[in-house]
Amino acid sequence: MTLLEQIRQKAQERFKTIVLPEGTEERTLKAVETLVKEKIANPILIGDEGAVKAKAQQVGADISGVEIVNPAKAPYYDEFVEKFYEMRKAKGVTLEKAQQLMLDPLYFGSMMVKAGKADGEVAGAINTTGDVLRPALQIIRTAPGISAVSGAFIMIVPNCDLGYNGIMVFTDCAVTPNPTAEQLAEFAYASAGTARSLCGIQEPVVGMLSFSTKGSASHELVDKVVKASEIAKSRWPELLVDGEFQADAALVPRVGQSKAPGSPVAGKCNVLVFPDLQSGNIGYKLVQRLAGAEAIGPILQGMDKPVNDLSRGCSVEDVINVVAMTAVRA
Ligand code: ACO
Repeated sequence: MTLLEQIRQKAQERFKTIVLPEGTEERTLKAVETLVKEKIANPILIGDEGAVKAKAQQVGADISGVEIVNPAKAPYYDEFVEKFYEMRKAKGVTLEKAQQLMLDPLYFGSMMVKAGKADGEVAGAINTTGDVLRPALQIIRTAPGISAVSGAFIMIVPNCDLGYNGIMVFTDCAVTPNPTAEQLAEFAYASAGTARSLCGIQEPVVGMLSFSTKGSASHELVDKVVKASEIAKSRWPELLVDGEFQADAALVPRVGQSKAPGSPVAGKCNVLVFPDLQSGNIGYKLVQRLAGAEAIGPILQGMDKPVNDLSRGCSVEDVINVVAMTAVRA
């Protein structure tokens, strides 16, 4: 069974409710048909009921029986407005602004997750990453003890025995442009959780990446990664993490042993934490395009409840897979 098949099977066992704010979007509607038929999740679509049904009919998606919520007509709209206003008034949100934002499907969807009316949320087929993330960050917020959200990719590299038989988790490829050392440490911890829950990696081995291995270069950028590694070790002593490592020292046993002798982690990493968003985003795309790797994600880590962002170029299968991953993490 492939990794994605395993994830779909886990989702079926858990059968969670996932809200999809882009209710009139074609790939979303087609995905919903499969989610229902294969009992992967219980989807809720946001939108005007007539418009959602008309679009479903137009694209040939059978969404019969699926719950459709129109924010303007929802019995809990006023309650959500009040809650959102209370949460955000210190940030300058007025009651009128709260009323307006709660009509926005992305804000309403995040509020449904916050209020426990859904277990998770998936959007982004027609909205940018920033537009999906902002309401989620404002409403659902980060998990206790976590200050920053990160976006991980599961990389499945063909014909590769590095990582976990060619499977690796890369972080942060999607969210926080310039993380602090503390935040990099949080990404290490969160990514190990992703490796366990979604990749079946029982013992995640985390490498903190840099252009230096164990002091081979000195620069303030390297110092940040060294500090991140120390913070991760002291906050989560059970976590197998080390650095700073160059990518080859993290992944290749022979290079790891020669450049970082004595490190229990060097050369064995299956989770790679990049030092910033530029390197993480570039890194995953290079591996995807040059090595023909499958890149599954971004999987948002560190949120109090699961929210995931789709690529605007996503396929129907991508929507189904991201909903399944969201359900597994719910
Ligand atoms: N982690 C946790 N909380 C955050 C983060 C973060 N990384 N960033 C912002 N927040 C919080 C803020 O503290 C703020 O809380 P507050 O209003 O209660 O004080 C709230 O979220 C909203 O913050 P804003 O400042 O309004 O949001 P901002 O405009 O900074 O946007 C965002 C945040 C969307 C994450 C932004 O940093 C961003 O666009 N990141 C890059 C996304 C991207 O383009 N990725 C690459 C493409 S994806 C791909 O290729 C797979």
